[in-house]
Amino acid sequence: MLQVETKLDALREQLPAVRATGYFNAGTNGPMSIAAHQAIVDAATEELKAGRIIPGVYEGHAVNIERVRVQLSRLFGGEADEFALTRSSNEGLSIALNGIDWAPGDEVITTNLEHPLLFAPLGMIAHRYGTKIRVANIGNGGGDIITALERQITGRTRVIALSHVMWSSGAVIDLAAVAELAHAYDALLIVDAAQSAGQVPVNLPETNVDAYAMPGQKWLGCPEGTGALWIPRHRLTDFVPTYVRYCASDPAGYIVPCPGSRRYEMGEAYAPAVLGMEAQLQFLLDEVGPEWMYERTRALADHFLASIENIDGVTVCSPRGQIGGLVCFNINGAIPQDIAAALFERNYTIRYVAYPPGPTVARASIAWWNSDEEVDGMVEELRKIAADPSTIEGKGAPA
Ligand SMILES: Cc1ncc(COP(=O)(O)O)c(C=O)c1O
Repeated sequence: MLQVETKLDALREQLPAVRATGYFNAGTNGPMSIAAHQAIVDAATEELKAGRIIPGVYEGHAVNIERVRVQLSRLFGGEADEFALTRSSNEGLSIALNGIDWAPGDEVITTNLEHPLLFAPLGMIAHRYGTKIRVANIGNGGGDIITALERQITGRTRVIALSHVMWSSGAVIDLAAVAELAHAYDALLIVDAAQSAGQVPVNLPETNVDAYAMPGQKWLGCPEGTGALWIPRHRLTDFVPTYVRYCASDPAGYIVPCPGSRRYEMGEAYAPAVLGMEAQLQFLLDEVGPEWMYERTRALADHFLASIENIDGVTVCSPRGQIGGLVCFNINGAIPQDIAAALFERNYTIRYVAYPPGPTVARASIAWWNSDEEVDGMVEELRKIAADPSTIEGKGAPA
């Protein structure tokens, strides 16, 4: 126990934001380490003082990006060259979805719990190509979702697109089972990894998914405007790059995309952000330790869920036993906006989620950097709120 506390204290020293507030909002943006911040500042200062493009800068930038790909493969499995650097989950999802040779009438299956930034590119594809979106109702994502997905399969199903961890319930989806289902019907599985990357362990080749689009800024704590898309080598021909940059091409229209998933990258990455990402991933890989971080996140979230479940007036909306760090809940007589605002006044930062067709809930992102005392402290505040919800009425901004 002492060892855990000493390690945690040392790590929390590296994350100033988690000492400013009980920080339970990695599902939006996670805290960044001092090392990552310093790498960004140093790189931006160097650009300012030495000149942005002087001999060696391009080459150095390319080397930095390759180092990040290697880190991603250490963290998520797969080969380094199977990762494309992106600026967000949405960008990765858009690259994968737009890379398919859709025909009118083709179908995509998704779920009722997805984020608007998966529904949006699906809608765009439907407008552009005349595809159909089928939404499987998987409840809160707990239990057997395979049957609900399979019920939506038809002879026109081309893709199943869903999240690894549901942003509005916290359910962790068994990707290997969904991939098996998709492949049994010759469909591809495209995964929104916005909530899962850095929250739950994953070995990508073992899941057998076909595309995995993750952000940097959430549970990994990397800078905004960073992210990655994993497409395994054997799927490169299933996803055509929509935008191409440097590759073999000529004015007659001859084109050979560059090797590996790098072919999907659109535009330059901001050099200081790449270096910030590298420093943050180094911090997670070498100082925090992936296994330790996933285990602590899960154990703390289980503890939080079990604690609030026993409070009169609190309803837990996450599937017990099937979560990582996200816990969603409601309090009788209170709206989630007011719960989030009232907790912030008491120095705990969570958020609310209110996007139909998903549920409207208060959402706490419980993560490895939180102390046990903070988690218990937030539980106590929720107990007080549940005892008299009228005390927090109107505290949140109007929805
Ligand atoms: C499940 C899910 N998908 C997509 C997104 C969008 O992420 P990004 O800003 O990285 O595109 C979010 C952001 O909250 C999310 O939770």
